[in-house]
Amino acid sequence: MTAQLTTRVLKANAASVAEAARILAAGGLAAFPTETVYGLGADATDGRAVARLYAAKGRPAFNPLIAHVVDLKAAQALARFNPKAARLAKAFWPGPLTLVLPKTAKCRVADLATAGLDTIAVRVPHHTVALEILAAFGKPVVAPSANRSGHVSPTRAEHVQVDLAGRIDLIIDGEATPIGVESTIIACLEEPVLLRPGGLPRAAIERALEQKLAYAPAGSPHIEEAPLAPGMLGAHYAPRTRMRLDVRRVDPGEALLAFGRRPAEGTSGALKVLNLSARGDLIEAAANLFSHLRTLDAAGAPAIAVMPVPHEGLGEAINDRLRRAATPR
Ligand code: TXA
Ligand code: MG
Repeated sequence: MTAQLTTRVLKANAASVAEAARILAAGGLAAFPTETVYGLGADATDGRAVARLYAAKGRPAFNPLIAHVVDLKAAQALARFNPKAARLAKAFWPGPLTLVLPKTAKCRVADLATAGLDTIAVRVPHHTVALEILAAFGKPVVAPSANRSGHVSPTRAEHVQVDLAGRIDLIIDGEATPIGVESTIIACLEEPVLLRPGGLPRAAIERALEQKLAYAPAGSPHIEEAPLAPGMLGAHYAPRTRMRLDVRRVDPGEALLAFGRRPAEGTSGALKVLNLSARGDLIEAAANLFSHLRTLDAAGAPAIAVMPVPHEGLGEAINDRLRRAATPR
């Protein structure tokens, strides 16, 4: 049980960035925006701070965290880059890409943060506030999505507040996150493998590498014995309301998560309708996904019906999160 804390919410500016760095240095917990979703930051090198972070999220300690750093040079102190990893980092950092790499011998990240693995997940976020905090703090920051474990990832400071008020020290309010789904995770241990589709579309990575990517989420036959992304449990991104996917005909009284210009059959009988993107734009849809799921979850409908979303570009990440959200618990 964690003691009740007073959680301050501050608008992003030079003073609040300095305060976030101060809190991290003191072993505290500070949530901040990245380009993907809000992260809950702790000093990656401080095992007690990391333990506090797991407790605040209610997260199983076997689920390792991503170390956020300010640039490639800082990442190279933590992880060994083979040529393909270096190519991806140069092409896409700062940006919504996480690389899982072998840890270096001098890596000072706490074992608890990597769940005792000899690999580490690293990323350089593409967001002014996140980068300013990392620069001011000067050390790696572990930052899972700033939600209670098993809840939908937060794309606004208010979402963080709903989940974590009283459990963390500070929330930096930097408005809605531009991308809205988490980073794409690639393991570059030998051949690159996609572990989690996310904010960087697979096609962009395949172009940069000039090769196709294998996809090996946890539970897939490749890695059943030693899950590469242990956090990718089936039921992970989860509203409380039951979900029905690929719906073309809405049942009366359901909440509807729509996509595109053409309404699903029965739309007028829905309890509440939100459209991911009325113009059928997958980038806009990703940015709206978690926020819309939270709103529809609160509508009190017996189910959330979700219209089909095309599987191209960011659609791969959107469909991945929808499928997880729909997994019965
Ligand atoms: O966009 C994002 O990545 C956000 C923002 C805040 O940066 N962060 C985020 O963190 O989504 P989190 O903790 O919710 O998801 C991290 C994922 C988990 O599925 C975890 O299992 C996986 O990364 N992971 C971390 N370290 C790993 C490792 N060494 N090997 C394999 N997977 C790892
Ligand atoms: Mg998460």
